[in-house]
Amino acid sequence: MNWIVQTFASSVGKKTMMAVTGLGFCLFLAAHLAGNLSLYVGRQTFNAYAEHLHSLEPLVKVMEAGLLFFAAVHVITGLVLFYQNFTARPSRYAVTRSAGGRSVGSRTMPYTGILLLGFVVYHLLNFHFVDKTGTTIYDIVAAAFTDPVTVGLYVCAMIVAAFHVSHGFWSAFQTLGANHPKYMPLIQGAGLVFSLLVGLGFGLLPVYLLAVS
Ligand code: HEM
Repeated sequence: MNWIVQTFASSVGKKTMMAVTGLGFCLFLAAHLAGNLSLYVGRQTFNAYAEHLHSLEPLVKVMEAGLLFFAAVHVITGLVLFYQNFTARPSRYAVTRSAGGRSVGSRTMPYTGILLLGFVVYHLLNFHFVDKTGTTIYDIVAAAFTDPVTVGLYVCAMIVAAFHVSHGFWSAFQTLGANHPKYMPLIQGAGLVFSLLVGLGFGLLPVYLLAVS
């Protein structure tokens, strides 16, 4: 138990927890995106995919519990780090100057993170905690994206997700020690490709479903 307290108390420990849980989320996002791409194929394919997932029920429940645990660790640790960085600054200026070399993605991490948390709660209320009797998951998703406001909110949320991932991906590798000058450009490139896939892959889906509705 002592090591848990020690890990959480140290700055390196907190960053490591952010990195491990963040990369866990990247894996989830990659799998979620791959599954959601079947929405482009149509009703039958997406429902068959969802049914297949539900047939793996005990495993899915374990994954959901793991995801919830990772989310709790990532959000709480992120908020603690944000608070500590904020109070540690010697002085705060009316005009914040950007430190050289810091990207939009890195400077906005806490804000994009909080927005994403809000999005995930909204998203689960849309598609997860809904009455699914007498309908199918495809019909629930397709019906949600007949509303241009919902589509707009999803597109904005996916842009926010892309920015968060664009910094979080390579930063997590750096925290875990993969900051060799030879590999870092490769990891940064992979992070950029992944964030584009997240932004475009997820972001175009609601637009497509609105267009075909
Ligand atoms: C256009 C984009 C997206 C669509 C159409 C979509 C669709 C869905 C659907 C249909 C479900 C419910 C599955 C079920 O309960 O049967 C779901 C669950 C979920 N989605 Fe998304 N999703 C999108 C983007 C995202 C993004 C960007 C995130 C994370 C930032 C996310 C996180 C989740 C989570 C955490 C769950 C719950 C997983 C579970 O309980 O097994 N989704 N999504």
